[in-house]
Amino acid sequence: MADKGVVVITGASSGFGRLAAGFLARNGYTVFATLRDLTGRNAPAAEALRELARKESLDLHAAEMDVTEDDSVEGCIRDVVGRAGRVDVLVNNAGFGYIGLLESFDLEQARRIFDTNVLGAHRTIRAVLPQMHRQGAGLLIQISSGAGRVVIPSMGLYCASKFALEALTDGYRYELADAGIDCVCVQPGAYPTEIFEKIETGADVARESAYGASRELANVIGNALKASTADPMDVPRALLDIIETPAGRRAPRYRVGRGAPGVEALNALSAEVQEQIVSAFGVAELTKFRSRHRP
Ligand SMILES: NC(=O)c1ccc[n+]([C@@H]2O[C@H](COP(=O)([O-])OP(=O)(O)OC[C@H]3O[C@@H](n4cnc5c(N)ncnc54)[C@H](OP(=O)(O)O)[C@@H]3O)[C@@H](O)[C@H]2O)c1
Repeated sequence: MADKGVVVITGASSGFGRLAAGFLARNGYTVFATLRDLTGRNAPAAEALRELARKESLDLHAAEMDVTEDDSVEGCIRDVVGRAGRVDVLVNNAGFGYIGLLESFDLEQARRIFDTNVLGAHRTIRAVLPQMHRQGAGLLIQISSGAGRVVIPSMGLYCASKFALEALTDGYRYELADAGIDCVCVQPGAYPTEIFEKIETGADVARESAYGASRELANVIGNALKASTADPMDVPRALLDIIETPAGRRAPRYRVGRGAPGVEALNALSAEVQEQIVSAFGVAELTKFRSRHRP
C-alpha cells in the first residue's frame, strides 16, 4: 500500500470522482475508487481505472459501492479496511441533479435525490467512523456545491439536498472534533463533467401546464450551466490541498471555481454566526478540534 494514506472516493465512474481517483493515486495515496454497478453498466469505467493503475503502477483500486444501499456501503468499507488496514480520508462525491419546476418532481424523485446526495453521505460516514474512531484520526470530505449555499431557480430539490449535506457536514464537524476526526465541505461552481448528461427532469410533466413564463427557467439555467468551460481538475487539486493541510487547520468549507463570489461571503458570515451559536450555548471548547496524536 502507498504510504501517504488510504482514500475512499464515492461515485468514481466519471467526473470529479474519476479524476480525483487518478490524481490522488499519482500523488502517493492508496485510492479505493468506488462505483455502483461495477460489473454491469460501469464495467468499462472500472476497467479504465484498473488499466490506469497497471500502466502507471498506482495504488488505485476499483470497488463496488452504491451509496443508496446499506449492505453495499458497509460491505465495501469492510473490504477496504480488510485490505488496507485503515481509512484516512472519505470523499463523499456521489451525487446527481434535477432541473425543472419543483412541482413536477414527484415524491419518489424527491426521496431518491435525498437518498443519494444526503443519506448516501450519512451511510458512508457511519460505515467509516468506527475505523476512524479506532485510528483516533480521519478526514471526511463532502462534495457539496455552491448550490449548497445559494438557490438556483429550477434546481430547488438539488439545492435542498446540498443545503442538507452542508448541515450534515457541520453537525459531524462539531461532534467529531474532540475525536480528532475532521469534516469539511467542498463547494464547486459549474464544471463540464458528465453531470449534465445525467441530469433528470420532473416525472409529473402535467404539473407544468399550470405555469407560464416560469417554464423557461430550466432552459435558461441549464444552458448557462452547460456553457461552463472551467477545468474540472480544480476539484481534485483542491482535494489534495485539503488532505495535505494539517488536521485542525482546515476550514469548514472550500469554495472552488469562479462565479457567485457571494458564496464565500455567506461562508464567512456563517462561520461568524456559528461561532456565536456555539459560544451562546457554552460549547465552544467542546466543539474545538483536538488532535489525538502529537504533531
Ligand atoms: N459538475 C458540476 O458542475 C458540479 C458542481 C457542484 C457540485 N457538483 C457535485 O459533484 C459531485 C460529482 O459530480 P460530477 O460533476 O463529477 O458528475 P458525474 O460525472 O455525473 O459524477 C457523479 C458520480 O456519482 C455517481 N453516483 C450517482 N448515484 C450514485 C449512487 N447511488 N451510488 C454510487 N455512485 C453514484 C455517478 O455514478 P453513475 O455513473 O453510476 O451514475 C457518478 O460516478 C456530485 O455530488 C455533484 O452534485 C458538481
